Amino acid sequence: MSRKIIRHAPIVKGVPHLLHGGDYNPDQWLRSKDAIWKEDMRLARLAGVNTLSVGIFAWAALEPEEGRYEFGWLDEILDLMAENDITAVLATPSGARPGWMSHRYPEVLRVNGDRTRNRHGGRHNHCLTSPVYREKTLAINTALAERYGEHPALGVWHLSNEYGGECHCDLCQERFRGFLRDKYGSLDELNQAWWSAFWAKTYSDWSHVESPSTHWRGEQDIHGLHLDWMRFTTEQFVDFYLHEAAPLKAITPEIPCTTNLMGTYPGIDYFRLAQVLDVVSWDSYPQWSGTDRDVRTGVEASFHHDLTRSLKGKPFMLMESSPSATNWRPVAKLHRPGVHMLQSMQAVAHGSDTVQYFQFRKGRGGSEKFHGAIVDHEGTENTRVFRDVAEVGERLAGLDAVVGTATPADVALVYDWHNRWALDDMKGLLQNKTGYASTVVDHYQAFWQQGVPVDVVDGSLIAAPGGLDQYRVLVAPMLYMLRPGVAEAVNAFVERGGTFVATYATGYVDENDKTFLGGFPGPLRDTLGVWAEEIDALYPDDRNAIAWNGREYEAFDLCELIHAEEAEVLGAYGADFYAGRPALTVNRRGEGKAYFIAARTGADFLDDFYRTVIAETGVERVLDADLPAGVTAQVRSDGDTDHVFVLNCNPTPVTVELDGELLPLEPHGNTVLERPRKGGNAS
Ligand code: GLA
Ligand code: ZN
Repeated sequence: MSRKIIRHAPIVKGVPHLLHGGDYNPDQWLRSKDAIWKEDMRLARLAGVNTLSVGIFAWAALEPEEGRYEFGWLDEILDLMAENDITAVLATPSGARPGWMSHRYPEVLRVNGDRTRNRHGGRHNHCLTSPVYREKTLAINTALAERYGEHPALGVWHLSNEYGGECHCDLCQERFRGFLRDKYGSLDELNQAWWSAFWAKTYSDWSHVESPSTHWRGEQDIHGLHLDWMRFTTEQFVDFYLHEAAPLKAITPEIPCTTNLMGTYPGIDYFRLAQVLDVVSWDSYPQWSGTDRDVRTGVEASFHHDLTRSLKGKPFMLMESSPSATNWRPVAKLHRPGVHMLQSMQAVAHGSDTVQYFQFRKGRGGSEKFHGAIVDHEGTENTRVFRDVAEVGERLAGLDAVVGTATPADVALVYDWHNRWALDDMKGLLQNKTGYASTVVDHYQAFWQQGVPVDVVDGSLIAAPGGLDQYRVLVAPMLYMLRPGVAEAVNAFVERGGTFVATYATGYVDENDKTFLGGFPGPLRDTLGVWAEEIDALYPDDRNAIAWNGREYEAFDLCELIHAEEAEVLGAYGADFYAGRPALTVNRRGEGKAYFIAARTGADFLDDFYRTVIAETGVERVLDADLPAGVTAQVRSDGDTDHVFVLNCNPTPVTVELDGELLPLEPHGNTVLERPRKGGNAS
């Protein structure tokens, strides 16, 4: 399958380089700015920093009293940045608000699930509905755009910071009811969708409907309500983002807007939020330990990068990462030599056009004064971390050719927020250990280890017209909820020659969390050719086995008891009262195949199984080589030239054998190879 590869324009117009820099808080240094700010510019240049994010939590410095703006300091620092060729990622300050606002207008304070209202404090705790909060953010965002819209330093708008949480105040409850009225039209429809006859929960008046409660014996048992609340919360953030972006878009239509995301943060459906962003950005804090666990840490970081890139299918921004210790981790371990370079190149390998940090300079007070930073309290370039960062800067400066390039993938892996909400909420299987996200990463790891690039998709992308056209393989671990259109699209994908892989706990409920009738996996029963009659949850020490291809693999946690209807049986259970019954099947339909893995297994099975799938589907590995354990290869391409990133996540050295040549890699080492693209645009 040859595809046209598109190279995207740089994120910042006129800056055709990978961006390197990070969060910068000059407003914390106003009293000593003469000494500090100019020195910061010198240090930034020395570290190869070409971008700084300013203003993120600067509301109190920008508007010290209601309606009185102080822009002088920001004028000065932005001018300094422009003189030093440093692009500003300029933030709107809504992530934390000044004290005067909370005290004068308590409605801006968020209300928790237990219906208690927060005090002023912390950050990220405002109500998204509050007309006052909306009015104040609109005013300050408008003032920022008017003042800096033409400033030569302005490159990207950074809206707020890490949107998250939820508000249960009366204003939000009313808005939630409006959302439900629009969605269902009548209470009767709502009651049907939520199956609210259960425990006499039928709603007889709209005013009785309220958000789920964390208060003991508040509403927690209607899964449809919880799902709609998460969807509503997502829409609240979408709406608040659009509200914040409106003046920026009106005054500076050319400047891209983003807000920094948090990987698989469960509180917002990021596939939905990403629809309104110009460019996706995220904050990555892998917990490197300097031990064998670093392989899994590397796999998880790769997965999160792929997920983030896939939200819009184009280069993204690594908005934050730590150049050394991450102070909020229980163990704030230092980065071992090589780790900082590894995590930075890893982000680029997966499609990031930036490497940014929290933070440029450590503050003197507050709870983040010991978080890793480019510039330490010591204040000079003479530190190990500074040298690590400068080395990354130098390396990135040599990679202009990578800017905007694509990350072509033949494999799509499903990660779906709605499915996660439903699985996390359900009572059954293994409570609190259903493990959706980690199971998805288990399947991802098998491709990562083979150096096979992966895109991540959700139900909305699968069901979109042509959503699966570019893929050969679709893997959907634990797709418990089938949203409208998904089963049909998967079936069409298989019919036209795709290979689909599903697992236990698939096709149990519809988009309202109501079970399908007529046998699981519901609307995928024909495609998969199996009927899943029951599912067994195992105690932690219990083991079963799958016999396949002359080997036995451990099965644990969840074993589904299936009937092969149309499907061919490839593997069978080894123990218990279902020994000998099907555990691995394949169903041939049209031009394609649909596999079903009935039990949870370890990496040994997944590696062998996906190796077979990769071989028989002709999916290309980035390198035609068997990579040592813990090493992956990823590619960025402009269609003519590939940049191949080889990344060693082991704390030990390895050697990769490539066409008979030996490529040694240091502990946590990496290298980038250049080659013409096979079957690329030019051919
Ligand atoms: C988050 C925030 C930053 C900072 C870092 C510390 O990502 O966005 O403001 O608190 O964590 O790791
Ligand atoms: Zn509210």
